[in-house]
Amino acid sequence: MTPANFCVNKQTEQDEFMRLALFEPDIPQNLGAFIRLSAGLGVPLDVIEPCGFPVDDKRIRRAAMDYYDLATLVRHASWAAFCRDRPPGRLVLLTTAGAERLPDAVFRPDDILLMGRESAGVPPEVHESADLRVRIPLQAGARSLNVALAAAMVLSEALRQTSGFEKLA
Ligand SMILES: C[S@@+](CC[C@H](N)C(=O)[O-])C[C@H]1O[C@@H](n2cnc3c(N)ncnc32)[C@H](O)[C@@H]1O
Repeated sequence: MTPANFCVNKQTEQDEFMRLALFEPDIPQNLGAFIRLSAGLGVPLDVIEPCGFPVDDKRIRRAAMDYYDLATLVRHASWAAFCRDRPPGRLVLLTTAGAERLPDAVFRPDDILLMGRESAGVPPEVHESADLRVRIPLQAGARSLNVALAAAMVLSEALRQTSGFEKLA
């Protein structure tokens, strides 16, 4: 794997569809899980750098398995670059500090579901720039879910609400 095929910095032809975005990930296996999720459900994945690991880390491809080449990845050098280049659509932040509980959230087909960094979530300016902040309710004493599992839960509900599963077999 080379950085060149890790992410191609191009807009996709799928700009009208829902997207996943990952803010400065710091665990390569999680990025691999996101790549597999993106590939499986046909949802483009934006990776906002810097990542906390080399972009040619072998653990990414190991976790993504042979789904790697099926995923649509767009690599952004920074949060500012992502803001400049991203397609239109609401920015929906998944955050443990979200005011909107997942069961109450209403999604749109072109939403961008933004996940925070495993170690620290997102900084205040990113939090403020979101159009909607969604929280998965947890039982008392639980702080958070694994970022890829949280994304899968919210993406599933978002695709269900917006008929996003209909294009899949
Ligand atoms: C391990 S959590 C980050 C915890 C970090 N200490 C914080 O305060 O945000 C990594 C990411 O997973 C997502 N996440 C995890 N649990 C969540 C929940 N209950 N509701 C919404 N998002 C969640 C968020 O995007 C979060 O930024």
